[in-house]
Amino acid sequence: MRNLLIIISILAFFPAMTATAGPREDVIAQLETLAKADDASFSGFDVKRGETLFFAKFTTGKPETPSCTSCHSTSPKNAGETRAGKAIDPMALSKTSDRYTDAKKVAKWFRRNCNSVLGRECTPLEKGDFLAFMISQ
Ligand code: HEC
Repeated sequence: MRNLLIIISILAFFPAMTATAGPREDVIAQLETLAKADDASFSGFDVKRGETLFFAKFTTGKPETPSCTSCHSTSPKNAGETRAGKAIDPMALSKTSDRYTDAKKVAKWFRRNCNSVLGRECTPLEKGDFLAFMISQ
């Protein structure tokens, strides 16, 4: 009983410790499950690989959008612009705090943008790496 009370007071004192899971963590966790299903040796998403994907120039997608940077600007911390000239908030989590919290939104834009830039869907590994990079920024 005494121990229980101690535990309860610790949890009450550190609410952030009890709030580990959230919608953004769920998005990542789901991609982890898929990445592991694709490759049993999967050992976690990689910020560096995500950075490489963000800056890479592809020739397999639409000629007018060879790269993620075509719309998201050449820095995750800067605002981007759609082809029609509409502003896009920065992708870096430090700049746009509500990013990657809506699983449907994340899935929709990965589908669209990967098809435009790479000419195919991104793999769960690529998506997770990209998010790891943006969350680190
Ligand atoms: C043709 C322009 C364009 C290109 C190229 C583009 N994007 Fe986007 N992207 C957008 C727009 C527009 C949005 C939605 C607006 C927003 O989220 O602020 C968006 C949103 C996203 C989101 C959802 C963000 C969230 O808050 O959930 C992800 C993930 C994303 N893009 C990934 C990528 C990746 C990966 C690439 C490169 C493979 C890429 N985008 C290339 C225009 C683009």
